Amino acid sequence: MEIKIAEHAGFCFGVKKAVDTVYDLAKDPENGRIVTLGHLIHNEHVIDELKSDGVYPFESVDEIPDGATAVIRSHGVPESVILDLEKKSIPYRDLTCPFVKKIHDIVRKRSLEGDEIVIVGSPGHPEVKGILGWSVCGGTVLETYEQAEGYVPSDTEKKVCVVAQTTFSLKKFQDYVEIFEKKEYDINVVNTICHATMERQTEAEALAKASDAMIVIGGAESSNSRKLYELCKKQCENTFFIQTADALEDISFKGYASLGITAGASTPNTLIQEVFKACQRK
Ligand code: F3S
Repeated sequence: MEIKIAEHAGFCFGVKKAVDTVYDLAKDPENGRIVTLGHLIHNEHVIDELKSDGVYPFESVDEIPDGATAVIRSHGVPESVILDLEKKSIPYRDLTCPFVKKIHDIVRKRSLEGDEIVIVGSPGHPEVKGILGWSVCGGTVLETYEQAEGYVPSDTEKKVCVVAQTTFSLKKFQDYVEIFEKKEYDINVVNTICHATMERQTEAEALAKASDAMIVIGGAESSNSRKLYELCKKQCENTFFIQTADALEDISFKGYASLGITAGASTPNTLIQEVFKACQRK
């Protein structure tokens, strides 16, 4: 069986920078105790490894132990969290991905100018919660076409600024924009989907289309990995979502001549290689 790994599978620039920085910070005792605000990435193996280096995740600013330095992960946080850290004089390292930070700046600026804010993405995702927290007048998060069809600005005289979660599917985002255009609202669309995501998705789709079977590796909580799975499944019926190489035990590749492998932005390269080798042995 021919096995091909997608070129852009695994850690993206923002995640790699965050993970490398936290490992480096944890290595140097002079930095004192390092903690993360939420799980640094959606990968249990990395989280466990960090814990063995003494880096534990805490869900809120109030839980951060005295004397610890807090790390803000690549997903970013609402402005209120930064203000809270500063008010409590908690030292912190902001590792918000620059592409996410750019959305914070857009949302802040547009909301200050009076635009209504619409974010296309998952309302429960930390990145989306963070983006929403930079609007001075709140906003609306839309995650289904029905919600987009039903959306009405609170003031139809106002402009509507539409941004997307960085890992949103480009094709779906274009569908949302079309819905808004048909409604003839005064919209200001900013395509904030990250280039790394677009590249990963396009490449994964092409690989899935050309393969008899496809494997998507990602954490259960990783929304970009789930989206990759959905895209690949549309191109290749035999697409499997796995979290670790152990899950391959339950999958048979009999009769397949080609297998593609891709992975979400929070999947370490070591795990991709493990899966690749396990597939070769099957
Ligand atoms: Fe940043 Fe894009 Fe990764 S927004 S965290 S480089 S998926």
